Amino acid sequence: MRRPRIDVMHGVNLDQIGRRNREHYGEFTFTELEVRVKNFARELEIDATFWQTNHEGEFCESLHKAADRADGLLLNPGAWTHYSYAIRDALELTAVPAVEVHLSAVDQREEWRRVSVIRDLCVASVQGKGLEGYREALELLKAAMSEGGDSG
Ligand code: DQA
Repeated sequence: MRRPRIDVMHGVNLDQIGRRNREHYGEFTFTELEVRVKNFARELEIDATFWQTNHEGEFCESLHKAADRADGLLLNPGAWTHYSYAIRDALELTAVPAVEVHLSAVDQREEWRRVSVIRDLCVASVQGKGLEGYREALELLKAAMSEGGDSG
């Protein structure tokens, strides 16, 4: 059986972690996050592609094509999480399971961050656990992909 393929998709300003509010997002850089997440994925025997954009339309276009290349999605859309109905609609089109992940505890921060317009489309949501949260999110996604059928 082939290994499941997943896309780890990051949205706006996530490429700036390390320089952003370190209390919420940690000291590590985006490149360090990429290395750690790829290691977690390897341990779980998942092929992970890591990707980021600061352009909302590009994020939507990538979601349009997601089913062609991935069995599951790990999504951290950054601030778009809280208001982008465009991303929500694009996610609704994808036929693959998705897990939402956030470095910070969005539900315990400002009122506007407590809203996620994608959460009900995701099989799970992990937040406030920093880097380790990505491991948990990958485990949850792996379980959802194997429940879904052929590649888990
Ligand atoms: C974030 C939380 C969002 O509210 C914020 O806009 C981000 C990062 C997180 O990973 O904690 O850019 O998604």
